Formats: sequence, structure tokens, C-alpha cells
Amino acid sequence: MPRGLLITLEGLDGSGKTTQIQRLAAWLRKRKPGASIAPEPDSGSRDAGAPGPAPETWESGGVVLTRQPGGTVIGDRIRALLLDSRSGGLAPMTEMALMFADRAQAIAEVIQPALDAGKIVLCDRFTDSTEAYQGGGRQLGSAPVLELHRLVCGNLQSDLTLLLLPRLESSLARARRRNHRTAERSGLDEGRFESETDDFYRRVWQKYREIAAREPGRVVLIEGDLSIDEVHRKIVAAVVERLREPADK
Ligand code: TYD
Repeated sequence: MPRGLLITLEGLDGSGKTTQIQRLAAWLRKRKPGASIAPEPDSGSRDAGAPGPAPETWESGGVVLTRQPGGTVIGDRIRALLLDSRSGGLAPMTEMALMFADRAQAIAEVIQPALDAGKIVLCDRFTDSTEAYQGGGRQLGSAPVLELHRLVCGNLQSDLTLLLLPRLESSLARARRRNHRTAERSGLDEGRFESETDDFYRRVWQKYREIAAREPGRVVLIEGDLSIDEVHRKIVAAVVERLREPADK
């Protein structure tokens, strides 16, 4: 059975994930079937001329972009409940359960069908977010998150996770500015997380680093305050490397 590829993007609010996931999707869509997989010429990476093994599943499938929470009609309703600052009374366990309820729906409706069809799925946040935010930020710990992951997601894990971690201070400043703008423009209130304390975000940041250290084969850590282009080049290099590896699934 063909199996696509699940690539997730992770990081703090304001880390630039959304811009990067869109650029990565555009980059992947530009690659022609049968073309050698090489990073952009100026990416300064390894032997770009060598053609890698053909990524059959990707060539035949295409690219699907999704995000969590959200990405389905039901997921968007769960997202509204989770992100609205009027949901102040949400208990940490409720929050974690809702994140997984959203994920269950996304897997059933979007992710698994796309992977089965051999597509590349780019997902803006996945279980690592729950481990970092609810496990770390809300101090529920990693164990219940990983247990729920097993229950809800089975053995579905990302093939590659790109973790963007600019300096904590830069992410926080950007996230807070962004939320003001969103609220002013759309009237949409998605500010519940952005109004969290710096300590909360420090715990999230630390848990992300812990995940990266624990799973270096899956998680590629892109650290520091880099330009959008620099981060994009690092992402492309990581994806190229992953696509070159022989499919083991
Ligand atoms: P979103 O607007 O998608 O944030 P960003 O653009 O920064 O990714 O909002 C998602 C928020 O939900 C974000 O603050 C992180 C949080 N979140 C969790 O706490 N746990 C989770 O499992 C997921 C998927 C997201």
C-alpha cells in the first residue's frame, strides 16, 4: 500500500511556522515528478547534484496542508472553543482532551486518507504541541500526552518534524503583536494562549527542547533568530534529506 509522508511544523506562537509551511508547500509543489530532489542552489548544503531515489509516493500524490487545532469543520469548532479568551475556565485536562478530539477528527478526515493516497501531508502542529503546551506549559507532564497519543493516533507519528525555536523573547513579542492585529482586523478572538505568562512559554520552550533531544532522528531543531529565507533553506535541506532516505514504510 502506498504511504505518503507526514511532515509537521512545531514551535512557539510567533515562531514563523505559518509562513514557513506555506513556503515549503510551494517549494514541494514546484518540484516536478521525476526531477532530482535538490535544495535551492544557494542553500549551501551537501552534494546537491546527486539525484536521490525517486520519492514515488510524493510524485504520485501531491501535497496537503493542514493545521491543528482546526483543519476540519468539527476541528474548527473545537479550535474556537480552545482559543477564545472567554474559555477561561477550561481545565488543563479538558484542554488536552479537546486537542486530541480535534486530532482524532483530522486523522480520520484528512491525514490518514491523504497518507493512504501517497500524499505529503504538511501539518502545522501535531502531538508535539500537546506535549509542549499541555505537558510542559500546563504541567500535566509528558506521560499522559504520550499515552493519549497511543490511544488516539495509534502508531501514526510524523516522519519528520521541523521545530522552529527562535529566542523565547523574540517569539513572545511577535505573538503578542500578531494577536492584537488579528483581533483588530477580523474581530476573531484567538488570544487565550497569547495572554499566557512568560513562565508558561518558558516551560513550553523547554519541553520542546526536551522532545528534540529525545528524538533527534525525527525532530530537526532550527534554532536562533534567523531570517525567513535562512529558515526556509534549512527546512528544504532537512526535507530533501528525508526524501532521499529509502522508504521503510
Ligand atoms: P494558532 O493560532 O494555530 O497558533 P500558531 O499560529 O502560533 O501555531 O493557535 C494554536 C494555539 O494552540 C497555540 O497557542 C498552541 C496551542 N496548542 C496547544 O496548546 N496544544 C496543541 O496540541 C495544539 C495543536 C495547539
